[in-house]
Amino acid sequence: MAKILVTGGAGFIGSHLVDVLLAKGHEVRVLDALIPQVHGENATWPTWVPSQVQRMIGDVRDPDVWVKALAGMDIVYHLAAEVGVGQSMYEIVRYMDVNTMGTAVLLELLSRGNHTIQKLLVASSMSIYGEGAYQTPEGQVVFPMLRDEARLRRQQWEHYWGDSDTELIALPTNEDKPLQPTSIYAISKRDQEEMCLSVGLAYNIPTVAFRFFNVYGPRQALSNPYTGVAAIFSGRLLNHNPPLIFEDGGQSRDFIHVSDIVQGLVLGMERDEANYQAINLGTGRQTSVLDVAQALNRELGLDIAPEIVNKFRAGDIRHCFADISRARRLLGFAPKVRFEDGVRELIGWVSQQTASDKVADATSELVARGLTR
Ligand code: NAD
Ligand code: UD1
Repeated sequence: MAKILVTGGAGFIGSHLVDVLLAKGHEVRVLDALIPQVHGENATWPTWVPSQVQRMIGDVRDPDVWVKALAGMDIVYHLAAEVGVGQSMYEIVRYMDVNTMGTAVLLELLSRGNHTIQKLLVASSMSIYGEGAYQTPEGQVVFPMLRDEARLRRQQWEHYWGDSDTELIALPTNEDKPLQPTSIYAISKRDQEEMCLSVGLAYNIPTVAFRFFNVYGPRQALSNPYTGVAAIFSGRLLNHNPPLIFEDGGQSRDFIHVSDIVQGLVLGMERDEANYQAINLGTGRQTSVLDVAQALNRELGLDIAPEIVNKFRAGDIRHCFADISRARRLLGFAPKVRFEDGVRELIGWVSQQTASDKVADATSELVARGLTR
């Protein structure tokens, strides 16, 4: 039995991790600031944080908070973060402060040596890749940068080979792909990953950085208008509003159920093979945004056509899905939940919520700031 600190443990992914750690007999402490964007104004602990957890309200930017949170712990899962890609492009100081500097505060304390931490596991993100890997018509693997804005304005949404109109083909992305983060959020996640791996190595604290792909499932914050697309679309459909689709809906991601992310996180703690490495956690399956809208409609027995806005969000990538061979090989990771089954459960969760639909507000904010074109 280990003593485990989970930062962000009141949030979506952290709280599922806490459930599994408790079920395995570990002692768990949660540090979370219960931020209003996720938990509402004047929030108290969500009901899903069990009473046997030691709860600490506090901010990861505060060194004194970390000193108390780390005391007597064996393992740290650092999941607390600001998570909205679009929002990070105007709340720049807040995102860098919480994600990058909050992690710096943790690492500086660890560097002093008077701690009991034996392992550090940090939540990174596939967003640090920027675009995924692609293949040219001749079969050469390429790593394109962001799409050309002139083409996007002509609604040519794919990546093309040179100046031609031949589309590049998206490939699974592995961990060796050069990192090309395209948002402040992604830059802060790369910082977190690289800082943790570098300090872990320097001070012999086994560290693993997990690059989560697009995670969905119950407890995803619906109050947060910058939450993931599957939760946003569920909320829209349950309110009988059409999902708003940027570009043409052909953009794709790798949607992984939260229980599969937790599987990877726990394997990373229990096994040593992934120490000091960055590891993709996805399913290896490519799903388009249009497919997400269709799957949700089908599950809900609805037929609400999505509204294709034919605009694009600044910094958005077209395709990225995971090559998970490293997680399979080093950790024996094997995702179990099929998207079709996972969305059924997501809908169950969303329908129990008072789904206030704040997406329109969030979208207008992006428009007002010139971040959709
Ligand atoms: P979430 O918003 O549900 O949970 C984050 C938690 O962190 C919240 O409970 C929040 O109150 C807390 N928090 C925020 N700022 C804090 C601060 N300054 N001090 C202490 N606590 C603070 O988000 P999530 O989806 O569960 O994300 C968890 C982690 O996974 C994050 O690091 C995120 O970047 C990463 N991630 C998520 C996804 C995804 O698709 N959800 C994908 C890739 C990576
Ligand atoms: C998401 C996560 C990010 C995580 C990353 C890793 C959120 C808010 N962001 O970023 O924390 O690190 O995955 O995989 O969970 N879209 C629409 N309509 C909408 C909303 C989105 O068409 O109403 C489109 C977007 O333009 C994009 C796709 O859906 O093409 C996915 O967007 P989103 O769910 O915000 O995720 P990511 O930007 O991939």
